[in-house]
Amino acid sequence: MTGLSTADVETLGTAGFVVGRGFLGPELAAKAHGAALEQVAAGALHRAGIRRGSDHTVNDGVRGDSITWLDETCDGVMKEVWLRFDALRLQLNELAYLGLRRTELQLAHYPGSGAGYQRHRDSFPGDDNRRMTAIVYLNPSWQPEHGGRLKLFVEPEQHVDPTLDTFIVFRSELIEHEVLPSYADRLAVTAWYSAR
Ligand code: OGA
Ligand code: MN
Repeated sequence: MTGLSTADVETLGTAGFVVGRGFLGPELAAKAHGAALEQVAAGALHRAGIRRGSDHTVNDGVRGDSITWLDETCDGVMKEVWLRFDALRLQLNELAYLGLRRTELQLAHYPGSGAGYQRHRDSFPGDDNRRMTAIVYLNPSWQPEHGGRLKLFVEPEQHVDPTLDTFIVFRSELIEHEVLPSYADRLAVTAWYSAR
C-alpha cells in the first residue's frame, strides 16, 4: 500500500506527525535507492546550505548533507518518485483539506562521516511557505550502529529509523526535528508542500 490511511491523517491532525512503512512499495523503493546512488556517484549533489535572510552559507556544524532538487521534469525512476509525492499532496488535500498547491522535492545524502542536521523546523508560524514535510528513506542495509535516526522533539521523544521505504509526514512549522550523526551513507527524499 502507498500513501496515507484515514487513521494516518487523523494522527497527523492530532500529533502533527505520522510515521509509516511502504510509501513507494518494494519495487519502486529499490529502484529509487539505485537511482539515488547513481546521482551521488555522478556528482549531481552539492553541499546543502542554510538560509539566513538572503544569505546562503554552508555550515558543517549545522547540516552535513549534500542535496539536489528533483522536479516534474526529471525522468525515469525519480519522475515516478516525484509523481508519488505529488499524489500524496493531492491525498492530503482530499483528506485534510490543506489546499497544498506546490511540491518541492529534494534528494539528500549524508556521507557517513558523523554528519547530521541540528535541531530545526522546516518553516515558521506565519510563514505561508512550507506547510507539510514528507520524507521517504532509501537505506536498505541500515543498521542501528549507522545512526542517522530522525529525532522528533515531541512528547514522548521519537526516533525514526531511516530504513528503506520508511516514511514520515509532519507539519513543517510545528515539529522540531534533528538528524542524528550518521556513520554510514544515508539517503532520503524529502518533499515540502506549500499552499502558494
Ligand atoms: C531536512 C531534514 C530530515 C531527514 O532536510 O530539513 O530535516 O530525516 N531532513 O532527512
Ligand atoms: Mn528539516
